[in-house]
Amino acid sequence: MRRQDATPNDLEPFWMPFSANRQFKASPRLLVAAQGMYYTSHDNRRILDGTAGLWCCNAGHGHPKIVEAIQTQAAQLDYAPTFQMGHPKAFELAGRLANTMAGDLNHVFFTNSGSESVDTALKIALAYHRARGEGTRTRLIGREKGYHGVGFGGISVGGLGNNRKQFGGLLTGVDHLPHFHNPEHNAFSRGLPEWGAHLADDLEKLVALHDASTIAAVIVEPMVGSAGVIMPPKGYLERLRTLCTKHGILLIFDEVITGFGRLGAPFAVDFFAVEPDLVTTAKGLNSGAVPMGAVFAQDKIYDAIVNAAPPGAIELFHGYTYSAHPLACAAALAALDVYQGEGLFQRAAELAPYWEDAVHALKGLPHVIDLRNLGLVAGIELAAIDGNPGARGYSAFVRAYEAGLLVRVTGDIIALSPPLIVEKDQIDTMFAILADIIRTLD
Ligand SMILES: Cc1ncc(COP(=O)(O)O)c(C=O)c1O
Repeated sequence: MRRQDATPNDLEPFWMPFSANRQFKASPRLLVAAQGMYYTSHDNRRILDGTAGLWCCNAGHGHPKIVEAIQTQAAQLDYAPTFQMGHPKAFELAGRLANTMAGDLNHVFFTNSGSESVDTALKIALAYHRARGEGTRTRLIGREKGYHGVGFGGISVGGLGNNRKQFGGLLTGVDHLPHFHNPEHNAFSRGLPEWGAHLADDLEKLVALHDASTIAAVIVEPMVGSAGVIMPPKGYLERLRTLCTKHGILLIFDEVITGFGRLGAPFAVDFFAVEPDLVTTAKGLNSGAVPMGAVFAQDKIYDAIVNAAPPGAIELFHGYTYSAHPLACAAALAALDVYQGEGLFQRAAELAPYWEDAVHALKGLPHVIDLRNLGLVAGIELAAIDGNPGARGYSAFVRAYEAGLLVRVTGDIIALSPPLIVEKDQIDTMFAILADIIRTLD
């Protein structure tokens, strides 16, 4: 049907992502403006942002420096291709990012989203082994409960059944490590839990099964975000690094959530002092202002694929029309200025103990079966209603919104990840609202 007379306020044509479309459209929640820590809803209420949008607006909303950078860039150079062409801000940004990132992760491939960053990193890993004459290394290893976006690569290595089951056979040659979510051992841990580092050793089992010569890469979120905020056990990532190195397997950290200050350090790479071979990022890269992602690759990877290729060759047949889009680059350069100038990563680190106390003060409330925190992230796990998993979480989400607080829920887990500009009194407000709601939930 052609809708010649578009109906104002017709909610039907927009097929909403990861949403219960019919439920939403029957009772919509629209955000119409945002500034600093607050959204404005369509019914003109102030909504405190407990989730930095969707884990991305780390500098808060509408930061004047980021807004100005985008406006100026749009007027000066709206778009420029980066296939066999370039524009200055792409190179400037890659350099700034390489300087922000620790270790040998000095080369940056631009994408438009976390999903594209993941697929790009997986492809780079395959191309790396092939370039070095180890083309049998094609197997990719993810982890149960992992979320790596929605591309076919990402859902194949991802470990969330709902994200996979509608979409057929996915990539072949993929296997998974076990997850480490274990409330029996780790419930109510403050920061990193003690139990579970040994689960990294399961990589040895996968090596025994498939042989290291068939395995290209292991990809993990350093801190599990979308599956419900699950912190890595102490020592887990270190062990994974050691095993990957031992077997010549590339280690990829998916830092789409943890990158750009979320843990109170520039990256999880810094926070855990573990250097993977590749890092995927997006979201906080430009504080969510323009879609953008970036993959960081170690020098040895760039050397093997790019510097070792014949002169004049296009070394990697991969890229996006909007790789290093000028508006996204301008926004990212401004966001990096803001992060640095306002010391936001440090600020997150300084607030983290206050945040931790606020999270764990919910202990003892009805339905609360676990509380987890790291940096400026929190997971509040509620007991599921018998036979109706997710209902209690959804009801908490809606009631929080009605009470003026935006949270994110995964099933019955409430996830919090405010912009890094959050003030202590706003943290108090968030947890006061949540405590009230949790007390009165069915
Ligand atoms: C760890 C991780 N990887 C990848 C993605 C996908 O990012 P996008 O939605 O930008 O494609 C996300 C999104 O939440 C994520 O948390």
